[in-house]
Amino acid sequence: MGLSSVPAASTPKLWATSDVHVSHESNRAFVTGLSERPGDWLVLGGDVCESADDLAWTLDELAPKFARMFWVPGNHELWSLRPDEPRGVAKYEQLVSVCRARGVVTPEDPYVLFPRGVDAPTAAGAGEEGGPPLYIAPLFLLYDYSFRPPEVAREDALRWARESGIRCADEQFLFPEPYATREAWCDARVRDAEARLTALGPEATFVLVNHFPLRIRDVILPRVPRFSLWCGTTRTEDWAVRFRARAVVYGHLHVRRRTAEGPCEFHEVSLGYPPQWSGDPDAQLRRIL
Ligand SMILES: [Fe+2]
Ligand SMILES: [Fe+2]
Repeated sequence: MGLSSVPAASTPKLWATSDVHVSHESNRAFVTGLSERPGDWLVLGGDVCESADDLAWTLDELAPKFARMFWVPGNHELWSLRPDEPRGVAKYEQLVSVCRARGVVTPEDPYVLFPRGVDAPTAAGAGEEGGPPLYIAPLFLLYDYSFRPPEVAREDALRWARESGIRCADEQFLFPEPYATREAWCDARVRDAEARLTALGPEATFVLVNHFPLRIRDVILPRVPRFSLWCGTTRTEDWAVRFRARAVVYGHLHVRRRTAEGPCEFHEVSLGYPPQWSGDPDAQLRRIL
């Protein structure tokens, strides 16, 4: 650090959680029980709820506790359970509006530069003042059924899953309109995010946030392995390396995990359904930066 540089007043801590599923009463207690962290930032990695009203309730509870919040949609938020609800892209846009009304950053907003001052953490290489720019990038990439063994053809994939009793409720409730298929929607989302990440140049580094894991190797579901079809796309397999990610944050699996590979940490940060967590709400948050 040069003597003439002005240090940032304080570096926020970046926390993450996902799969809060507030339709479960005790998970609402997680939301209301979290302590205030007025200088810190919070990432919500999707599957907060199934309705715009519940998303609004959650953000109204949490926004006053944090300096900045980020949200990406999970498959549950995108469900249209009632005939009068918007579907597909229109449902997503309704949720984005709920976030914007509360100042919460969504995948539709510019990626946010993470401030790094003299007290910046050094974990995961995040803290070198004057280092490359580090952006928080909330992504909405969906899935395209490509997380499957090579011998299973796309047209056989749903049958292959059904053979082991697996069928995701998304097939009934997650509509792709106006796209013809969920794969087509995924394709559009991947192309858009790829262009935006690339546009920030070869120096930019990222915390990539997506509800679904970016790599098939992170889909660890010993009891329901064929659920992998609804867990991501192979098109993001190399994104952590290609976009110089310092961290990848995801949920969806309800299997918490933290691994490191080179300069990048991979965080599965699900809270999960009530039997899957207990205890102090604050202890459920994952520190990312
Ligand atoms: Fe979930
Ligand atoms: Fe999910």
